[in-house]
Amino acid sequence: MKDRILSGMRPTGRLHLGNYFGALKNWIELQKTYECFFFIADFHALTTSYESPADIRSNVEEMALDFLAAGIDPGKSTLFLQSLVPTHAEAHLLFSMFTPLAWLERTPSYKEMIETLKDRDLRTYGFLGYPLLQTVDIVLYHPKFVPVGVDQVPHIELCREIVRRFNHLYKSDLPEPQPLLTASPKLPGIDGQKMSKSYNNTIELFGSASETKKRIMSIKTDSTPVGEPKDPAACNVFAILSLLCGDAERKSWEERYRAGGMGYGDVKKALAEKYEEVFGAMRARRDELARDRGAVWEILRKGSARALDISTNHLAAMRRAIGIAY
Ligand code: ADP
Ligand code: TRP
Repeated sequence: MKDRILSGMRPTGRLHLGNYFGALKNWIELQKTYECFFFIADFHALTTSYESPADIRSNVEEMALDFLAAGIDPGKSTLFLQSLVPTHAEAHLLFSMFTPLAWLERTPSYKEMIETLKDRDLRTYGFLGYPLLQTVDIVLYHPKFVPVGVDQVPHIELCREIVRRFNHLYKSDLPEPQPLLTASPKLPGIDGQKMSKSYNNTIELFGSASETKKRIMSIKTDSTPVGEPKDPAACNVFAILSLLCGDAERKSWEERYRAGGMGYGDVKKALAEKYEEVFGAMRARRDELARDRGAVWEILRKGSARALDISTNHLAAMRRAIGIAY
């Protein structure tokens, strides 16, 4: 019996290299070792996009294509869509009864996002409940681990706290999940800040070759003259390039940086070539998959049916523990 893991992503736009190296690539590798549940968190997308939900459907479809093309294998893993699995909504309601407001209000991401996304009114019931919904996403499947980036650790901690409260109140033994931290570095975007959709500084995972090249050529670098030695550790281009190279190639680039005589234009060109080498075939596979969108929905529906099956059993046990199983 393999240990179970579960993780999800919000469908809020096209995936970028930060998402790939920070999460998706790791998920794909974890398929070898674990029984995996991966899902698209469309309810979570709605917590911030409730005023303009028109893009959610296509974002879900594109995200599913990205996952499949990158190597999520529906034959090995359960890939599902959150809102097609109604147990999440019911468990969220049940858990809302005993989750103290203060626990949600003090979640770091809560105040932070209300501050950053000033153009939207996030003082809603649903947005406050974001980490509670994430909690039930997890507890419905009893995973041992939840692979996430460090930014999500407070949410997993809150999940564990809520699980303990459930167990205490209802004399249960729901398992407490552990975060499985990915060693993923925070990938910088083309402006040097963390690569993120919110900063408009991304390089898309499946952008066209020409668009990607343009983005790569516009990565911000310092103004050290071509002839002088440069510090690879301080270079945004190198940060991305080094994730695409093997050890030997990375070392050789480091030497070229330190030796001087190499311009940032050279290394940007090399990065654009490397990107094609690594992601070109994946993009072709995505184009192939995109021709049959019905098949993509079929995979999501099948995965969601399986997720419903498993989560229904766990939810029934929670209802029994609370005392509302009739
Ligand atoms: P964005 O910041 O673009 O909105 P999300 O918050 O939707 O991205 O992140 C989805 C997943 O990708 C998360 O697991 C997150 O930790 C990871 N991730 C996002 N940006 C980066 C980055 N720049 N470096 C590493 N991982 C990242
Ligand atoms: N909040 C997560 C993110 O922004 C997405 C998510 C929703 C999630 N439910 C989850 C991750 C359950 C892990 C487990 O990346």
